[in-house]
Parts: sequence; C-alpha cells; structure tokens
Amino acid sequence: MKVLLIGGGGREHALAWKLARSERITGMWCAPGNPGISGERLISNRNTVECVAIGADDLEGLAEFARKNLPDLTIVGPDNPLGMGIVDLFQKQNLPIWGPNRKAAQFESSKVFSQEFLEKHGLPHAEGCSFTDPEQALAFAEQRRWKCVIKVDGLALGKGVFVCSSHEQVQNAIHSIFVENKFGTAGNQIVVQELLEGLEVSLHAICDGERALLFPTSQDHKQVFDGDRGPNTGGMGAFSPAPFLDQEGIEAIHSQIIDPWLKGCRSDGIDFRGILYPGIMITSKGPQILEFNARFGDPETQVYLPKMKNDLLDVIEASMLGKLDQVELNWEKGSTVCVVMASEGYPGSYSKGKVINGLTNLETVPNTMVFHAGTKEIEGKIVTNGGRVLGVTAWADSLNEARDRASDAVESIHFDGAFYRRDIASKAIE
Ligand code: AMP
Ligand code: GLY
Repeated sequence: MKVLLIGGGGREHALAWKLARSERITGMWCAPGNPGISGERLISNRNTVECVAIGADDLEGLAEFARKNLPDLTIVGPDNPLGMGIVDLFQKQNLPIWGPNRKAAQFESSKVFSQEFLEKHGLPHAEGCSFTDPEQALAFAEQRRWKCVIKVDGLALGKGVFVCSSHEQVQNAIHSIFVENKFGTAGNQIVVQELLEGLEVSLHAICDGERALLFPTSQDHKQVFDGDRGPNTGGMGAFSPAPFLDQEGIEAIHSQIIDPWLKGCRSDGIDFRGILYPGIMITSKGPQILEFNARFGDPETQVYLPKMKNDLLDVIEASMLGKLDQVELNWEKGSTVCVVMASEGYPGSYSKGKVINGLTNLETVPNTMVFHAGTKEIEGKIVTNGGRVLGVTAWADSLNEARDRASDAVESIHFDGAFYRRDIASKAIE
C-alpha cells in the first residue's frame, strides 16, 4: 500500500517513523516533509520516504499529486489543510484520505464554533463569550477583574491565546488582535474565557464517526521558558503518561467529556473521523475543556507513537472506515519524554540556516529518537529552518529515566542560538 503524508514538522516525522514500521506500507511520500522524514526507511522493502516539494496548504497541488500518483491513502498531519477542507476536496475526487472533514475540523479552526458547541451540549468547559467589538471584550474582561484568557477565533500556530491577569495584559492582547491586526482574519472574532486553574493534560481520542478510543494521557509545556514563564508556543516538550489522572479521572473524562461530545456530534450531524485532541484542565470542579484540536498534537505525537504497539496504519484505516469497534489500542509500558530544541527568539522572530551538529552520534543510542521539526538540508549539512527545530525524544521504564535520557541526548546536539526547557516532566517527577 502507498501512503501520502501531509506536513513537515516534528509530528509528521513521528508519524512517518511509525508508519514506516508497518509491514503493509510499500511506498510513502511526504509533502513537504523534512530531512528527518526523508531519512526514514520502510521496514517492508527498505525504500526511503520520498519528500515532495508541495506545501501542506497547497490543497490543489496536493490533489493534483494524488491524482497522478494515486496513493492508497492520504494522511493529514497539520490543522491548516484540515480547516481549509482538504478532506472534502479529496473525497469529491474519490481520493482516499484520513482526517476530519471541514465541518468536523471546525472544532479546531473556530474557537467560537467550539465554545458554542460546548455550551449547547452542556460539556464541562471554561465559560466565555465571543466578541467582534474590542470595547465589549474589554468590558467583559473587566467584569472578571482582568483574569481571563483571550483567544483569536481562527488558527494561529498556537500563538493566538493570551492568558491575562491584569488590565495591561488584556489591553495589550486586544491591541495586538484588533489594532495591530497581527492575526489577520483569524482575529476578526475572539473568545474571552474565564481563567481556569489546575493541572493541564492533553488527551487524544481517535474517532470513527461513532466511537472514540482514548490514548494514554500526556502533558505539553506551552510556555517558552522554564517554570511556565513567557509567551505560549506550539509546545516546548511533552511527556506521557501524565500521572495526575488516575483510572477514576479517566473514567470521568469518558463519561463527562467524550460520550457527551460524541452525542453532540451525532445530533449536530458532525461526522468526525480523525483525532480529537482536547486540552483539559483538571480543576477542583473536575475536568474542564479549554479547547479542542482536531489532529495529532505536536509534540504529543512524538511521545505517543514510540509507545504504540498497534500498526498505526490499521488504526487509521479503522477510523476512516467506521470500524474502530474492531480495534484495541495497545501501548508499551513505561514513559516517554520529548524535549523541543528551538531557535533563539522563538516564538517571536528567529534566524535560520544554523548548522546542527551532533545528530549522527545519537542514531545508535537505544530508546532515543530525534524527530526533525524545522530543519533543512543544504550541501549535505542539516541546518535550522524553523522556530521549533528538533524534538529529542526518549523512552524508558520510568519518567525519571526517560527524562534523563532525553536530557543527555539534547546536550549532545549543538547549533547557534539553540535553547530548550530544562524542566520538561519536572512537575510530574516532583
Ligand atoms: P489553547 O490554544 O486554547 O490550548 O490555549 C493554549 C494554552 O493556554 C493552554 O494550553 C492553556 O495552558 C492556556 N489556556 C487556554 N485556555 C485557558 C483557560 N480558560 N484557563 C486557563 N488557561 C488556559
Ligand atoms: N502541543 C500543542 C498542539 O499541538 O497544539
């Protein structure tokens, strides 16, 4: 079977690495891919993954490639093409594709849509209101004594969320959205939510339109600096499982979140086939939904897939065909930690093209994997090409060991301006 994977970040490298381990896959393209992905070899025939220079947002270009090369399945990594309706476009042309269609992807592509769905179906969530008028948003935030979270409606690479606790922070957020227009049309509407306190967990559930199978828990580290300081990023590191949720907590999430969500989708005619990734705060009132994503998390995928025992292709096909009742997800025991190495300046502006040294030393280190995120190959050298550059991942029997192993690996990689958080998984270990 031949597969086309769309995307070119750390998440897609993890997907390509795992899919390459499927005996059933005999050919793989990745658009646009990255040097880490093109270094993967298929277990079935030792062929490499072919990266093709088509951007993940170039829907017409991708459809044209699929019409010519006829992959048996296209797998979509990032949120943007899903929000733009790539699934609908491929399906119209009878090109097999996996991921939520445009209507279902609105859980991520519109915070206003999500907030309204949560309210309508009575799921536990951060309460809030949507606004198009900055003055009204300010007045609402003032009622909450400026303790609130401001979110732009549309997709913003994880940067469109402002956690505020002062008048000044609220004003700055509103100014950058409505006056500086930093988010373009994604910021035409905003949601202002109550600020929830508690422990945050990431959940992933694979869905087939009827059912949802939960992955183990994980935790991301959104803020750029140690101690959860600084602005939010796409994610600076993750670990799995998160010990904050016991079996009872997981059952509460099933009955209070996943089941009512499925019921709400059914009653609203939403056929969700793909990954639902809710961000959840465990509060004194129980689990509360902060937001939904409609795809694999990045870097969560890097900590999940090394532990998945199933053939990922089987699981994805079952999700696409409405057959998840025939699948049981199985996971290796132990823990995984991923530390993201980023370029100085991220999540603001940063420079590119810095040579990365030390990668080859790690190729033979057991239970360690360096997933490429923002990299490029120039004249045989791997150089930086993005804000998040590498996802250095390690797995072990305990979280402690996995963290130490990931830290050792990070220390052997060097590039100008490299930085990373040194406290990934610390909260769980302490
Ligand atoms: P989102 O993109 O909506 O996941 O928001 C990014 C991050 O902002 C989340 O991972 C949380 O850490 C934080 N956040 C979002 N909404 C809230 C909320 N209502 N209360 C507290 N923190 C939040
Ligand atoms: N880890 C955050 C995200 O994938 O949105």
